[in-house]
Amino acid sequence: MYLKNLSLLNYKNIAEANYEFDPKINCFTGKNGVGKTNVLDAIYHLAYGKSYFNPLAVQNIKHGEDFFVIDGTFDKDNRNEQIVCSLKKGMKKVLKRNGKIYDKFSEHVGFIPLVIISPSDSDLITEGSETRRKFIDSVISQLDPAYLQELINYQKVVAQRNALLKYFALNHTFDKDTLSIYNEQLDELGHSLFEKRKRFLEDFIPIFNKHHQSITDSAEDVSLRYDSHLHNKRLLDLFDESLQRDRVLQYTSVGIHKDDLLFEIEGHPIKKFGSQGQQKSFLIALKLAQFEFIKKQSGVLPILLFDDIFDKLDETRVAKIVQMIDDKVFGQIFISDTHPERTENIVKETHQSYTLFNL
Ligand SMILES: Nc1ncnc2c1ncn2[C@@H]1O[C@H](COP(=O)(O)OP(=O)(O)OP(=O)(O)O)[C@@H](O)[C@H]1O
Ligand SMILES: [Mg+2]
Repeated sequence: MYLKNLSLLNYKNIAEANYEFDPKINCFTGKNGVGKTNVLDAIYHLAYGKSYFNPLAVQNIKHGEDFFVIDGTFDKDNRNEQIVCSLKKGMKKVLKRNGKIYDKFSEHVGFIPLVIISPSDSDLITEGSETRRKFIDSVISQLDPAYLQELINYQKVVAQRNALLKYFALNHTFDKDTLSIYNEQLDELGHSLFEKRKRFLEDFIPIFNKHHQSITDSAEDVSLRYDSHLHNKRLLDLFDESLQRDRVLQYTSVGIHKDDLLFEIEGHPIKKFGSQGQQKSFLIALKLAQFEFIKKQSGVLPILLFDDIFDKLDETRVAKIVQMIDDKVFGQIFISDTHPERTENIVKETHQSYTLFNL
């Protein structure tokens, strides 16, 4: 699968642009702020129906304009698939496949498998556990739509249970039976979600380790672990134990909505003890594992967007990635970098077709 062409209108700083792409390597180069990342984000938009960088959809419309259009044609199984994503101020965003409007964006998720590697992935290390849960959830739900629905149901019941705890506190009352209805629903949903996350990570972590060892020549001892209250106990027992605390907090303090991924280097949090290059290598391994996982599960080579590819990586680590391109690990790849000559010299070494776009 690959993206054949892309037309943009009023997307962020890009008034109008049309690109014909190489099925293999495409490089966007140019100075800071010219719009390299914006082009990659437009491609991301076609796969996920939203921006990777700016969750506020209207802020992706070029300043002073009142709509944007992203129009791209993919080759998937030798068929043309035209995806158009557009937004007009004050209206709902529209996503179309071959002229037909999607009722639900979730029906499109997974149709264009795509992985992005970007400097803003560092949020996965620096931000709270929600960012990391979202990462796992988005990978699992690309392949298992039932997972997403269960997760939404779980979150609804947590919100209801929290509202009940607040009601108890406010009215100085308590009703064990009503609470236990929610507890049982959460126990069932939470257990199923936990099992799916656990099974996913059992497959995912070895793939992550393999990529990390490969990029770093096994120079760093890192680990990725799944942290969950449910590892040793059923949620029903946890609710019993935390009842007093939950009543005081008026909030459900245990469950899979507290799950986390622990990123460690030499047994310590990478957030505090990893150098910038070590953190970046960790994140790239995480994304390459996502790439391989999606490829394995879907049988399709995902498109890879590699934003600021050479930033903060030493030559050996860059060479490893270039070797992967050369070994045809990837399908179509989009690269952005500030130095046109550096980029060209590096992609030349891969002996694969490439197109350079100097913005
Ligand atoms: N809605 C918008 N309207 C107009 N310009 C916008 C909008 N959103 C973002 N921009 C502008 O787009 C430019 C940034 O583009 P982008 O992030 O793609 O740059 P870049 O080429 O990747 O730069 P760098 O090398 O620094 O990563 C910025 O100047 C930013 O202000
Ligand atoms: Mg950029």
